[in-house]
Amino acid sequence: MKMEDFANKVVYQIYPRSFQDTDGDGFGDLRGIVERLDYLEDLGVDYLWLNPFFVSPQKDNGYDIADYRQIDPRFGTMEDLDALIQAAQERHIGLMFDMVFNHTSVEHEWFQKALAGDEKYKNYYIFKKPVDGHMPNNWVSKFGGPVWEYVPVLGEYYLHLYDVSQADLNWDNPDVRQECADIVKFWMDKGVKGFRFDVVNNMSKGSFEDDFIGDGRRFYSDGPHIHEYLHGLNRASFGQDPSIMTVGEMSSTSLENCQKYANPEQEELGMVFNFHHLKVDYENKQKWTLKPFDFMELKELFNTWQTGMQETNSNQALFWNCHDQPRSLSRFGDDKNYPVESAKMLAMALHMMRGTPYIYQGEEIGMTNNGFDSIEQYRDVESTNYYEILKAEGKDEDEILAILGAKSRDNARSPMQWTAGKNAGFSDTEPWIRVNPNHATINVEAAIADPDSIYSFYKKLIRLRKESDTIQHGTYVPLLEEHERVLAYKRVGKDEEIIVLCNFYGEETTVSLHTEADMLLSNYADFQMRDGEVTLRPYEAVVLRKAV
Ligand code: GLC
Repeated sequence: MKMEDFANKVVYQIYPRSFQDTDGDGFGDLRGIVERLDYLEDLGVDYLWLNPFFVSPQKDNGYDIADYRQIDPRFGTMEDLDALIQAAQERHIGLMFDMVFNHTSVEHEWFQKALAGDEKYKNYYIFKKPVDGHMPNNWVSKFGGPVWEYVPVLGEYYLHLYDVSQADLNWDNPDVRQECADIVKFWMDKGVKGFRFDVVNNMSKGSFEDDFIGDGRRFYSDGPHIHEYLHGLNRASFGQDPSIMTVGEMSSTSLENCQKYANPEQEELGMVFNFHHLKVDYENKQKWTLKPFDFMELKELFNTWQTGMQETNSNQALFWNCHDQPRSLSRFGDDKNYPVESAKMLAMALHMMRGTPYIYQGEEIGMTNNGFDSIEQYRDVESTNYYEILKAEGKDEDEILAILGAKSRDNARSPMQWTAGKNAGFSDTEPWIRVNPNHATINVEAAIADPDSIYSFYKKLIRLRKESDTIQHGTYVPLLEEHERVLAYKRVGKDEEIIVLCNFYGEETTVSLHTEADMLLSNYADFQMRDGEVTLRPYEAVVLRKAV
């Protein structure tokens, strides 16, 4: 059975704990999502990817799962979930669940049995004996510190690539693979229409040797059996229904591997979610640094991935934002002088590409970084760990706060801004994390009322994709590759070309197209082209159409 290509679909990501609170605990819930479905239907999205809301001690905001088949009471009940699935279905919206199979919470029953010495369950995880009285190797956790935690009663260490509360599963054990397939099938039976697989390319561990040139990731990213394991998961679960949409979150992956993961012939995943384009503001490949983004690198990465993935007919998620990234408008746009123009430009740059667009909650109204100004305002384990690490490196408080202010995941996690009123209409009570003070002007209520809002522009982009076979399936061809301010490409369809021009800067710039074309969409009210020459104003972006 052939998988659908999902090129005509748009996904909206909801971070449930920050979307809408209905029971007054300052924490979003499933009922809150039901309340906001009309809004999402109006936007025109097809799927809702929900971050994990399963039973969890919430050490990593739900990515530490203690029971994959139960709802964490903070988010509601199974009845609430059934109501959500039903209400979404009535609006032709499918739900996409987040499957965290690289690790479980240490509170999961399997890990608890392992700790009690049960060999079957010990073999669900990766336990290693000390080597010469030390940790088995020198790898560094993604959240800082070593990846090994010693369990005195067992006299062994367990592996955790992420937080100490997230023990890595042993995917070389067929029982683990079967358990995970069964979880997927459980949710398929409930009417779930899609799955996002968390850090999925870290699941097949290779050798456990010391890494003297890196943090260890080269031994487990895109590990030795990963393609085989994903093919197995596909065959044993979601692949049995070709209408199920899947996406794998890829950590430190390569184009070559992604071409395989998402190649329909290989029957692994529907598409990949990779982060290369979101590392162009890292100094020396280090996240916790401050550097303006490198536009030429960004452009080259887009071109390489777009053309590379199309070579093998592999699908790609198109995204600027998610719950792990600072807000794109603050990062790649100008959220002070040109917030509306630059938010629309960024959206257009991505939505006209080849793949499936993802919108992260609040992006469609131009939400920005939060502006946190003290460490007490942060909640995320990665951010608070790095605060300590940067401090130990000798950085001063102001510099650390500037770095966190630009890079922390909490920037994306502050409550959805529905109104200018109390707590942005998110909750009646003090929210679990600070609301961005700019909700006074940036909010859904204002966005809906304004036909020129960022929100209205997103609706147009979504409609355009749905109406255009060229946007869905046209060949991606880079244009103006040497231009230092403009991202330009065309999509070549059966009898037309769609040309996209995006000025990534706050100054005017000119491009020569050597051809005439009609305007389809622009983020400025008027647009002019003379003799194939276009002058793009600050952050101006246009989509042109030319019959061929
Ligand atoms: C993924 C999630 C992130 C989480 C990590 C560990 O990257 O998106 O939020 O912290 O995996 O599960």
